[in-house]
Amino acid sequence: MGLERLDKRLAATGRWSRKEARELIRAGRVSVGGTPCHAPESKVDECAPVLVDGAAIGADRPVYLMLHKPAGVVSSTAELGERTVLDLLGEEYQNIGLFPAGRLDKDTEGLLLLTNDGALAHRLLSPRSHVDKVYYVEVDGALDQDDVQAARAGMTLGDGTECLPAELELLSSDSAHITLREGKYHQVKRMMASRGKPVRYLKRVRFGPLTLDAALPKGGWRALSEGELEAILGE
Ligand code: URA
Repeated sequence: MGLERLDKRLAATGRWSRKEARELIRAGRVSVGGTPCHAPESKVDECAPVLVDGAAIGADRPVYLMLHKPAGVVSSTAELGERTVLDLLGEEYQNIGLFPAGRLDKDTEGLLLLTNDGALAHRLLSPRSHVDKVYYVEVDGALDQDDVQAARAGMTLGDGTECLPAELELLSSDSAHITLREGKYHQVKRMMASRGKPVRYLKRVRFGPLTLDAALPKGGWRALSEGELEAILGE
């Protein structure tokens, strides 16, 4: 029977860095074989069930769901006093280690991939992966060709953060599709704010090869189709 460090076991899922794993463990959120464990360096049996916030870190089958996130829920698996995207799912999906691959703000709607495939999530979210994300955005103010050029050139945000070139496709005077190849914190909102045109509404319509299913109501979800799965696993 193999033994391995608990922080290493968590990090191996691809869901947390070693540092994040150590923090989770020290915060008392991790249990091994039913007993809370506070020491990141603990050696644990590789077969022992490890739970974070009561959910298994790895399941025996990979699951891939497309969710139409509504506004008002947070993109995490557990947050005190908040309704999470996991709360939208059925009972059978509660304890199989699902988590959102990437985050949308609480007030942002649209496509979120939920999976327990840590390696895939890690790959999709790595800063080097540059998976295209397309958002539908409405702003206060009038969008114009200067905004298109500024996005294309790569914007510098108010705090000096440099953004990669992005594609802004104007749909009306105050709405557009914007394609990002990265996922900085509040990126669309900060980009638009830097143009003096604050975001009024934001919805993700595409994530890599996945397009939000128009038949999914807000809060609705479904398993990825075989074609979608093949496409996303090939990213
Ligand atoms: N950019 C934002 O500002 N918010 C999101 O939720 C996603 C992208």
